Amino acid sequence: MKNILVTGGLGFIGSHTTVALAEQGFIPIVVDNLSNSELFIKDRIEQILNQAITFYQADCNDYAAMEKIFKEHTIEGVIHFAAYKAVGESVAEPLKYYENNLFSLINLLKIMQQFSVQKLVFSSSCTVYGQTEKLPVDESNAILPAFSPYGNTKQIGEEILQDVVKSQVDLQVISLRYFNPIGAHPSALIGELPRGVPNNLVPYITQTAIGKRPFLNVFGKDYPTPDGTCIRDFIHVCDLAEAHVKALQFLQNQKGSFIDFINVGTGKGNSVLEVIQTFEQVSGKALPYQFAPRRSGDVTAIYADARKAEKILGWKAQRSLADALADAWRWEQAIQNLEPMRF
Ligand code: UD1
Repeated sequence: MKNILVTGGLGFIGSHTTVALAEQGFIPIVVDNLSNSELFIKDRIEQILNQAITFYQADCNDYAAMEKIFKEHTIEGVIHFAAYKAVGESVAEPLKYYENNLFSLINLLKIMQQFSVQKLVFSSSCTVYGQTEKLPVDESNAILPAFSPYGNTKQIGEEILQDVVKSQVDLQVISLRYFNPIGAHPSALIGELPRGVPNNLVPYITQTAIGKRPFLNVFGKDYPTPDGTCIRDFIHVCDLAEAHVKALQFLQNQKGSFIDFINVGTGKGNSVLEVIQTFEQVSGKALPYQFAPRRSGDVTAIYADARKAEKILGWKAQRSLADALADAWRWEQAIQNLEPMRF
Protein backbone atom coordinates (compact mmCIF):
# COMPACT_ATOMS: atom_id res chain seq x y z
CA MET A 1 0.00 0.00 0.00
CA LYS A 2 1.60 3.23 -1.13
CA ASN A 3 -0.73 5.94 -2.39
CA ILE A 4 -2.77 7.38 0.44
CA LEU A 5 -5.39 10.04 -0.17
CA VAL A 6 -5.29 12.60 2.63
CA THR A 7 -8.35 14.84 2.66
CA GLY A 8 -7.79 18.06 4.58
CA GLY A 9 -4.09 17.34 4.22
CA LEU A 10 -3.02 20.99 4.56
CA GLY A 11 -4.88 21.47 7.85
CA PHE A 12 -3.42 21.27 11.34
CA ILE A 13 -3.55 17.51 11.88
CA GLY A 14 -3.56 16.69 8.16
CA SER A 15 -0.28 18.47 7.45
CA HIS A 16 1.55 16.72 10.27
CA THR A 17 0.13 13.38 9.16
CA THR A 18 1.17 14.02 5.56
CA VAL A 19 4.73 14.49 6.81
CA ALA A 20 4.58 11.35 8.98
CA LEU A 21 3.18 9.28 6.10
CA ALA A 22 5.90 10.30 3.68
CA GLU A 23 8.55 9.67 6.33
CA GLN A 24 7.26 6.11 6.65
CA GLY A 25 7.41 5.44 2.91
CA PHE A 26 3.80 6.15 1.93
CA ILE A 27 2.96 8.50 -0.93
CA PRO A 28 0.45 11.08 0.31
CA ILE A 29 -1.97 12.48 -2.26
CA VAL A 30 -3.26 15.61 -0.58
CA VAL A 31 -6.70 17.08 -1.24
CA ASP A 32 -7.75 20.29 0.47
CA ASN A 33 -10.25 23.01 -0.44
CA LEU A 34 -8.25 25.61 1.53
CA SER A 35 -11.39 26.58 3.46
CA ASN A 36 -9.42 26.56 6.72
CA SER A 37 -5.84 26.09 5.56
CA GLU A 38 -3.17 27.88 3.56
CA LEU A 39 -1.45 26.90 0.34
CA PHE A 40 2.03 27.76 1.65
CA ILE A 41 1.71 24.81 4.06
CA LYS A 42 2.23 22.57 1.03
CA ASP A 43 5.62 24.25 0.43
CA ARG A 44 6.46 23.86 4.10
CA ILE A 45 5.63 20.14 4.05
CA GLU A 46 7.89 19.79 1.00
CA GLN A 47 10.64 21.70 2.80
CA ILE A 48 10.46 19.33 5.80
CA LEU A 49 10.43 16.26 3.58
CA ASN A 50 12.81 17.58 0.94
CA GLN A 51 10.52 16.11 -1.72
CA ALA A 52 7.52 17.24 -3.75
CA ILE A 53 4.04 16.12 -2.78
CA THR A 54 0.97 15.73 -4.96
CA PHE A 55 -1.70 18.27 -4.13
CA TYR A 56 -5.19 18.96 -5.44
CA GLN A 57 -7.24 21.96 -4.45
CA ALA A 58 -10.62 20.27 -4.38
CA ASP A 59 -13.67 19.87 -2.19
CA CYS A 60 -14.65 16.40 -1.02
CA ASN A 61 -18.24 17.34 -1.73
CA ASP A 62 -17.39 17.69 -5.42
CA TYR A 63 -17.88 14.14 -6.68
CA ALA A 64 -16.52 14.82 -10.17
CA ALA A 65 -13.34 16.45 -8.84
CA MET A 66 -12.75 13.58 -6.44
CA GLU A 67 -13.46 10.97 -9.09
CA LYS A 68 -10.84 12.58 -11.30
CA ILE A 69 -8.23 12.17 -8.55
CA PHE A 70 -9.12 8.51 -8.06
CA LYS A 71 -8.80 8.01 -11.83
CA GLU A 72 -5.38 9.67 -11.93
CA HIS A 73 -3.90 7.68 -9.04
CA THR A 74 -4.28 4.16 -7.76
CA ILE A 75 -5.42 5.10 -4.28
CA GLU A 76 -4.91 2.30 -1.77
CA GLY A 77 -6.07 3.96 1.42
CA VAL A 78 -7.76 7.13 2.60
CA ILE A 79 -7.34 9.31 5.69
CA HIS A 80 -10.32 11.62 5.94
CA PHE A 81 -9.60 14.79 7.92
CA ALA A 82 -11.54 17.32 5.87
CA ALA A 83 -14.30 18.68 8.09
CA TYR A 84 -15.44 21.77 9.95
CA LYS A 85 -14.58 21.68 13.65
CA ALA A 86 -15.62 24.88 15.43
CA VAL A 87 -18.07 23.88 18.14
CA GLY A 88 -19.65 27.34 18.64
CA GLU A 89 -20.07 27.95 14.92
CA SER A 90 -21.77 24.57 14.59
CA VAL A 91 -24.41 25.66 17.10
CA ALA A 92 -25.05 28.86 15.13
CA GLU A 93 -24.93 27.19 11.68
CA PRO A 94 -25.84 23.53 12.12
CA LEU A 95 -26.77 22.90 8.48
CA LYS A 96 -23.36 24.08 7.32
CA TYR A 97 -21.84 21.40 9.57
CA TYR A 98 -24.21 18.57 8.68
CA GLU A 99 -23.90 19.36 4.99
CA ASN A 100 -20.13 19.63 4.87
CA ASN A 101 -19.07 16.96 7.34
CA LEU A 102 -21.60 14.31 6.35
CA PHE A 103 -21.88 14.83 2.59
CA SER A 104 -18.11 14.74 2.22
CA LEU A 105 -17.95 11.43 4.09
CA ILE A 106 -20.79 9.95 2.03
CA ASN A 107 -19.18 11.10 -1.22
CA LEU A 108 -15.87 9.63 -0.23
CA LEU A 109 -17.41 6.28 0.72
CA LYS A 110 -19.21 6.14 -2.62
CA ILE A 111 -16.06 6.91 -4.56
CA MET A 112 -14.04 4.42 -2.52
CA GLN A 113 -16.62 1.76 -3.38
CA GLN A 114 -16.54 2.74 -7.05
CA PHE A 115 -12.75 2.32 -7.15
CA SER A 116 -12.60 -0.66 -4.75
CA VAL A 117 -10.55 1.21 -2.15
CA GLN A 118 -10.75 -0.78 1.07
CA LYS A 119 -8.88 1.08 3.82
CA LEU A 120 -10.13 4.17 5.62
CA VAL A 121 -8.98 6.07 8.68
CA PHE A 122 -11.64 8.49 9.94
CA SER A 123 -11.10 11.57 12.14
CA SER A 124 -13.39 11.26 15.11
CA SER A 125 -13.31 12.94 18.50
CA CYS A 126 -13.60 12.24 22.20
CA THR A 127 -16.60 14.55 21.99
CA VAL A 128 -18.61 11.39 21.14
CA TYR A 129 -18.41 10.43 24.84
CA GLY A 130 -19.99 13.67 26.10
CA GLN A 131 -19.38 14.07 29.85
CA THR A 132 -18.76 10.49 30.77
CA GLU A 133 -18.89 9.35 34.40
CA LYS A 134 -16.00 7.00 33.86
CA LEU A 135 -12.48 8.42 33.64
CA PRO A 136 -10.23 7.60 31.98
CA VAL A 137 -12.74 6.85 29.24
CA ASP A 138 -12.31 3.74 27.11
CA GLU A 139 -13.83 2.87 23.77
CA SER A 140 -16.55 0.66 25.23
CA ASN A 141 -18.05 3.70 26.95
CA ALA A 142 -21.59 4.67 25.94
CA ILE A 143 -21.97 7.28 23.23
CA LEU A 144 -23.98 10.03 24.93
CA PRO A 145 -26.11 12.64 23.17
CA ALA A 146 -23.83 15.11 21.44
CA PHE A 147 -23.29 18.54 22.98
CA SER A 148 -23.14 20.30 19.63
CA PRO A 149 -23.98 19.79 15.96
CA TYR A 150 -20.23 19.43 15.38
CA GLY A 151 -20.10 16.57 17.89
CA ASN A 152 -23.18 15.07 16.32
CA THR A 153 -21.51 15.02 12.89
CA LYS A 154 -18.79 12.83 14.42
CA GLN A 155 -21.34 10.50 16.03
CA ILE A 156 -23.41 10.25 12.85
CA GLY A 157 -20.21 9.81 10.83
CA GLU A 158 -19.31 6.80 12.97
CA GLU A 159 -22.83 5.39 12.54
CA ILE A 160 -22.68 5.83 8.78
CA LEU A 161 -19.37 4.00 8.74
CA GLN A 162 -20.75 1.13 10.81
CA ASP A 163 -23.69 0.69 8.44
CA VAL A 164 -21.55 0.86 5.33
CA VAL A 165 -19.03 -1.63 6.75
CA LYS A 166 -21.92 -4.04 7.46
CA SER A 167 -23.14 -3.70 3.89
CA GLN A 168 -19.79 -4.43 2.24
CA VAL A 169 -17.59 -7.48 2.18
CA ASP A 170 -14.24 -5.78 1.93
CA LEU A 171 -14.05 -2.44 3.74
CA GLN A 172 -11.77 -1.90 6.71
CA VAL A 173 -12.18 1.21 8.82
CA ILE A 174 -10.50 2.66 11.88
CA SER A 175 -12.15 5.63 13.53
CA LEU A 176 -9.62 7.49 15.64
CA ARG A 177 -11.14 9.42 18.52
CA TYR A 178 -8.81 12.33 19.15
CA PHE A 179 -8.52 14.02 22.48
CA ASN A 180 -7.03 17.57 22.43
CA PRO A 181 -4.35 17.94 19.73
CA ILE A 182 -1.86 20.73 20.39
CA GLY A 183 1.73 21.67 19.54
CA ALA A 184 3.45 21.95 16.18
CA HIS A 185 6.19 20.29 14.17
CA PRO A 186 9.54 20.80 15.97
CA SER A 187 10.92 22.47 12.81
CA ALA A 188 8.36 25.27 13.39
CA LEU A 189 7.56 25.06 9.67
CA ILE A 190 3.99 23.79 10.13
CA GLY A 191 1.50 24.17 12.97
CA GLU A 192 -1.96 25.39 13.82
CA LEU A 193 -3.24 28.41 11.89
CA PRO A 194 -6.53 29.53 13.39
CA ARG A 195 -8.38 32.16 11.40
CA GLY A 196 -9.57 35.11 13.46
CA VAL A 197 -9.87 34.73 17.22
CA PRO A 198 -8.84 31.21 18.26
CA ASN A 199 -11.48 29.02 19.90
CA ASN A 200 -9.00 26.55 21.34
CA LEU A 201 -6.89 26.99 24.43
CA VAL A 202 -3.30 26.61 23.22
CA PRO A 203 -3.39 28.96 20.21
CA TYR A 204 -5.12 31.48 22.46
CA ILE A 205 -2.29 31.11 24.99
CA THR A 206 0.48 31.53 22.41
CA GLN A 207 -1.26 34.53 20.80
CA THR A 208 -1.59 36.13 24.23
CA ALA A 209 2.06 35.48 25.04
CA ILE A 210 3.18 37.08 21.77
CA GLY A 211 1.02 40.13 22.48
CA LYS A 212 -1.77 39.61 19.92
CA ARG A 213 -4.39 39.24 22.67
CA PRO A 214 -4.29 41.20 25.96
CA PHE A 215 -5.09 38.24 28.19
CA LEU A 216 -6.47 34.73 28.22
CA ASN A 217 -9.95 34.10 29.56
CA VAL A 218 -10.01 30.95 31.66
CA PHE A 219 -13.56 29.70 31.26
CA GLY A 220 -14.78 28.62 34.69
CA LYS A 221 -12.99 28.36 38.02
CA ASP A 222 -15.53 26.36 40.01
CA TYR A 223 -15.57 23.03 38.22
CA PRO A 224 -15.41 20.00 40.53
CA THR A 225 -11.70 19.42 39.79
CA PRO A 226 -8.68 19.88 42.10
CA ASP A 227 -8.00 23.47 40.93
CA GLY A 228 -11.50 24.30 39.70
CA THR A 229 -10.62 24.41 35.97
CA CYS A 230 -11.50 21.86 33.28
CA ILE A 231 -9.31 18.85 32.62
CA ARG A 232 -8.35 17.64 29.14
CA ASP A 233 -5.97 15.14 27.57
CA PHE A 234 -3.59 17.27 25.50
CA ILE A 235 -1.77 15.29 22.85
CA HIS A 236 1.14 16.45 20.69
CA VAL A 237 0.02 16.69 17.07
CA CYS A 238 3.12 14.72 15.94
CA ASP A 239 2.12 11.83 18.21
CA LEU A 240 -1.38 12.02 16.77
CA ALA A 241 0.02 12.04 13.23
CA GLU A 242 2.02 8.91 13.96
CA ALA A 243 -1.12 7.17 15.24
CA HIS A 244 -2.61 7.59 11.75
CA VAL A 245 0.40 5.93 10.16
CA LYS A 246 0.12 3.05 12.64
CA ALA A 247 -3.58 2.74 11.88
CA LEU A 248 -2.87 2.46 8.15
CA GLN A 249 -0.12 -0.08 8.74
CA PHE A 250 -2.57 -2.07 10.82
CA LEU A 251 -5.23 -1.87 8.09
CA GLN A 252 -2.70 -3.12 5.56
CA ASN A 253 -2.83 -6.54 7.22
CA GLN A 254 -6.62 -6.74 7.56
CA LYS A 255 -9.07 -8.52 5.31
CA GLY A 256 -12.85 -8.69 5.05
CA SER A 257 -15.03 -5.96 6.52
CA PHE A 258 -14.61 -4.45 9.92
CA ILE A 259 -14.63 -1.21 11.87
CA ASP A 260 -12.92 -0.35 15.11
CA PHE A 261 -12.84 2.77 17.29
CA ILE A 262 -9.62 3.79 18.99
CA ASN A 263 -8.87 6.60 21.43
CA VAL A 264 -5.83 8.70 20.62
CA GLY A 265 -4.74 10.49 23.76
CA THR A 266 -1.91 10.43 26.26
CA GLY A 267 -3.95 8.84 29.06
CA LYS A 268 -3.17 11.81 31.28
CA GLY A 269 -5.45 14.70 32.21
CA ASN A 270 -4.18 18.25 32.74
CA SER A 271 -6.18 21.22 33.94
CA VAL A 272 -6.33 24.54 32.14
CA LEU A 273 -4.26 26.11 34.95
CA GLU A 274 -1.64 23.36 34.65
CA VAL A 275 -1.37 24.11 30.94
CA ILE A 276 -0.84 27.80 31.71
CA GLN A 277 1.83 27.01 34.33
CA THR A 278 3.64 24.59 32.04
CA PHE A 279 3.52 27.14 29.23
CA GLU A 280 5.04 29.77 31.52
CA GLN A 281 7.84 27.38 32.42
CA VAL A 282 8.76 26.41 28.86
CA SER A 283 8.42 29.91 27.40
CA GLY A 284 9.87 31.84 30.35
CA LYS A 285 6.99 34.30 29.95
CA ALA A 286 4.29 35.24 32.45
CA LEU A 287 0.90 34.69 30.84
CA PRO A 288 -1.73 37.32 31.63
CA TYR A 289 -5.05 35.62 32.31
CA GLN A 290 -8.33 36.22 34.08
CA PHE A 291 -11.19 34.01 35.10
CA ALA A 292 -14.36 34.24 33.03
CA PRO A 293 -17.72 32.44 33.25
CA ARG A 294 -17.95 28.83 32.13
CA ARG A 295 -18.17 28.36 28.35
CA SER A 296 -21.40 26.65 27.41
CA GLY A 297 -21.01 23.08 26.19
CA ASP A 298 -17.68 22.45 27.98
CA VAL A 299 -17.43 19.16 29.84
CA THR A 300 -15.72 19.18 33.25
CA ALA A 301 -13.08 16.57 32.58
CA ILE A 302 -12.16 14.05 29.93
CA TYR A 303 -9.01 12.02 29.33
CA ALA A 304 -8.29 8.82 27.51
CA ASP A 305 -7.77 5.27 28.46
CA ALA A 306 -5.19 4.89 25.69
CA ARG A 307 -4.41 1.18 26.18
CA LYS A 308 -6.35 -0.02 23.15
CA ALA A 309 -4.17 2.06 20.80
CA GLU A 310 -1.10 0.49 22.33
CA LYS A 311 -2.51 -3.02 22.17
CA ILE A 312 -3.94 -2.88 18.66
CA LEU A 313 -1.79 -0.34 16.86
CA GLY A 314 1.41 -0.55 18.91
CA TRP A 315 1.14 3.21 19.36
CA LYS A 316 1.72 5.26 22.46
CA ALA A 317 2.18 9.01 22.90
CA GLN A 318 5.88 9.83 23.22
CA ARG A 319 5.90 13.57 23.78
CA SER A 320 5.07 15.48 26.96
CA LEU A 321 2.80 18.45 27.57
CA ALA A 322 5.94 20.59 27.99
CA ASP A 323 7.28 19.39 24.60
CA ALA A 324 3.98 20.25 22.93
CA LEU A 325 3.77 23.72 24.50
CA ALA A 326 7.40 24.47 23.64
CA ASP A 327 6.72 23.51 20.01
CA ALA A 328 3.49 25.55 19.92
CA TRP A 329 5.40 28.54 21.27
CA ARG A 330 8.24 28.15 18.74
CA TRP A 331 5.62 27.99 15.98
CA GLU A 332 3.79 31.12 17.21
CA GLN A 333 7.08 33.02 17.18
CA ALA A 334 7.92 31.70 13.71
CA ILE A 335 4.66 32.85 12.11
CA GLN A 336 4.81 36.47 13.15
CA ASN A 337 5.90 37.61 9.70
CA LEU A 338 3.48 35.38 7.87
CA GLU A 339 0.36 37.50 7.74
CA PRO A 340 0.95 38.66 4.14
CA MET A 341 1.16 35.01 3.04
CA ARG A 342 -2.29 34.29 4.39
CA PHE A 343 -5.69 34.90 2.74
C1 UD1 B 1 -13.34 21.16 21.53
C2 UD1 B 1 -14.33 20.04 21.31
C3 UD1 B 1 -13.68 18.91 20.58
C4 UD1 B 1 -13.15 19.40 19.27
C5 UD1 B 1 -12.16 20.51 19.54
C6 UD1 B 1 -11.72 21.05 18.19
C7 UD1 B 1 -16.08 19.87 22.99
C8 UD1 B 1 -16.49 19.29 24.29
N1 UD1 B 1 -14.85 19.58 22.58
O1 UD1 B 1 -12.38 20.71 22.47
O2 UD1 B 1 -14.61 17.91 20.31
O3 UD1 B 1 -12.55 18.35 18.56
O4 UD1 B 1 -12.76 21.55 20.31
O5 UD1 B 1 -11.75 22.39 18.07
O6 UD1 B 1 -16.83 20.54 22.36
N2 UD1 B 1 -10.41 27.36 27.38
C9 UD1 B 1 -10.22 28.51 28.13
N3 UD1 B 1 -9.98 29.67 27.44
C10 UD1 B 1 -9.93 29.75 26.07
C11 UD1 B 1 -10.12 28.55 25.33
C12 UD1 B 1 -10.37 27.36 26.03
O7 UD1 B 1 -10.29 28.50 29.35
O8 UD1 B 1 -9.73 30.84 25.53
C13 UD1 B 1 -10.66 26.08 28.10
C14 UD1 B 1 -11.99 25.47 27.74
O9 UD1 B 1 -13.01 25.97 28.57
C15 UD1 B 1 -11.69 24.00 27.98
C16 UD1 B 1 -10.20 23.86 27.67
O10 UD1 B 1 -9.67 25.16 27.71
O11 UD1 B 1 -11.90 23.70 29.31
C17 UD1 B 1 -9.93 23.25 26.30
O12 UD1 B 1 -10.69 23.99 25.34
P1 UD1 B 1 -10.46 23.83 23.75
O13 UD1 B 1 -9.03 23.97 23.43
O14 UD1 B 1 -11.43 24.75 23.07
O15 UD1 B 1 -10.84 22.31 23.47
P2 UD1 B 1 -12.17 21.47 23.82
O16 UD1 B 1 -13.32 22.35 24.09
O17 UD1 B 1 -11.78 20.49 24.88
